Amino acid sequence: MPDTDLPAVHIQIESIAFLVGTWAGAGSGTYPTIDDFTYTERIEITAPPKPFLAYSQQTKRAETGDPLHMETGFFRVPGPGVAELVIAQPTGVAEVLSGSVDGFRIAVRSTQVATTPTAKNIDSVERIIEVDGDVLRYRLLMGAVGQEHQLHLEAELRRL
Ligand code: HEM
Repeated sequence: MPDTDLPAVHIQIESIAFLVGTWAGAGSGTYPTIDDFTYTERIEITAPPKPFLAYSQQTKRAETGDPLHMETGFFRVPGPGVAELVIAQPTGVAEVLSGSVDGFRIAVRSTQVATTPTAKNIDSVERIIEVDGDVLRYRLLMGAVGQEHQLHLEAELRRL
C-alpha cells in the first residue's frame, strides 16, 4: 500500500525537505549604520513536485507590529551536498547564492547581488540555516553600504 503520508517531494530536493513547512518566531537585527531592532517572522516553504522548494517570509517590527522586510525565492539542490538559492526583495535587491547542505545545515554565500539603481549598495550576503527538529535558526551576514561583511540578522522559529 502506498504511504500517502509522505509529501510528494521531488528526489532532487529530498536532502532539504526538512525545510518544508510553516515557521513562526522572532529575531534581532544589527548593523553598524542602524539602530538594533527586533522582529517577528513567518516563513512558508512548500514543495511542489518539482526540483525546487518555494520560499517566502514576512516580518513585523516586534514593538509595533508594523510590517518590515519581506522576501521570496527558491531553493535547489543541483548535486549531492550542493545548495543554490535565489531571493528577490521589495527593496530592489536580488540575491543569487550557492553553497552546501550538510545534514540539517544549509550555508550559502552570494555569487551575485543585483540591485536596482535606487537600492542600497550590497556587496555580499551569507545565509546559514539550521534545523533541529521543529526549530529553525538562521543567521544572515552581509557586506553593505560600505561596511565589512558582518552580522545583520539572527532568528529562531518553530514549525507550526
Ligand atoms: C528578516 C529580514 C530583515 C529584516 C527584518 C530587516 C530589517 C532591517 C531594518 C529594520 C533596518 C533599519 C533601517 C530600516 O528601518 O529600514 C535594515 C537596514 C538594512 N538592511 Fe535589513 N532586514 C532584513 C533583511 C535584509 C536583507 C536580506 C538584506 C540584504 C540582502 C538587508 C539589507 C539591509 C541594508 C543594506 C540596510 C541599510 C543599512 C543602512 O542604510 O545603513 N536586510 N534592515
